[in-house]
Amino acid sequence: MTVDRYAVVGNPIEHSKSPLIHAAFAAQTHDNVEYTRLLAPLDGFVETVQQFFSEGGCGLNITVPFKEEAWQFADDLTERAQRAGAVNTLKKQPDGRVLGDNTDGAGLVGDLLNQGVALVGQRILVVGAGGAVRGILQPLLAQEPAQVLIANRTFSKAETLANLFTDMGSIQAVEMTHLDQQDAFDVIINGTSASLSGELPPLPANLVANHTACYDMMYGNDITVFNRWAQQHGAAQTIDGLGMLVGQAAESYRLWRGRLPEVAGVMEAMRGQ
Ligand SMILES: NC(=O)c1ccc[n+]([C@@H]2O[C@H](COP(=O)([O-])OP(=O)(O)OC[C@H]3O[C@@H](n4cnc5c(N)ncnc54)[C@H](OP(=O)(O)O)[C@@H]3O)[C@@H](O)[C@H]2O)c1
Repeated sequence: MTVDRYAVVGNPIEHSKSPLIHAAFAAQTHDNVEYTRLLAPLDGFVETVQQFFSEGGCGLNITVPFKEEAWQFADDLTERAQRAGAVNTLKKQPDGRVLGDNTDGAGLVGDLLNQGVALVGQRILVVGAGGAVRGILQPLLAQEPAQVLIANRTFSKAETLANLFTDMGSIQAVEMTHLDQQDAFDVIINGTSASLSGELPPLPANLVANHTACYDMMYGNDITVFNRWAQQHGAAQTIDGLGMLVGQAAESYRLWRGRLPEVAGVMEAMRGQ
């Protein structure tokens, strides 16, 4: 029986949990697939990917720092990938063309909804304006929130993103220094990489009330500094990015194999490790 080959490509790549997640999905669906880690040289992404597909590979996940290069590499793009300007999933299609998708935002939105966080009609603050935030705005706005505000250390990047998505709903940029004039939000999403270095963006306490759900896209063994801050200010709920990670993987799996794996059990297993 032939094995369908998939991989995650990045640099570095040893830390990636994607092979564990996809092995769990394949065990669920009884698909005969292989999913490995692929290290691409920093100046050799295109060659690495071309070789993978020419040797019969079916699909790739793309991680740091190659998501923009993958966007340029893809022959065709889904609408959400087109908007995101970044691709985390490549699929070789029957006609040989390579389709690029971005499943990060679907992973985030799916996790928020699974965790009981309402989005329709809600006021949402997104902190950060990097690649990950760019990838989540289309799926987030598709949920028809009342308003999305983007705050970022570098304000011009928040403005650029807000302008890019303004046709999809109510979305505006706000200066970090003006956040103390805002009422508490229903949902706050930390999409900065500050948590990676144990830092907290300068967020005033008035943003959080006892109805606020807070989501940190980062995850780890311990609670993140952002989620600790949210708890200290009485947030109703704090969630980390593990569900987003498993959710984006499930959406990639669906693109490749036509079936959406169940994520809850896989999240539990990952949390236990
Ligand atoms: N759970 C998942 O599946 C998943 C998927 C993708 C990403 N992520 C996480 O999302 C986060 C962002 O990733 P990315 O790819 O968007 O990174 P990125 O493109 O490098 O963007 C980083 C963002 O964080 C801001 N920032 C960095 N350090 C900061 C600090 N000390 N204080 C305030 N703002 C700071 C940057 O602001 P400036 O614009 O001012 O530099 C920028 O907006 C990371 O923690 C990553 O691990 C999680």
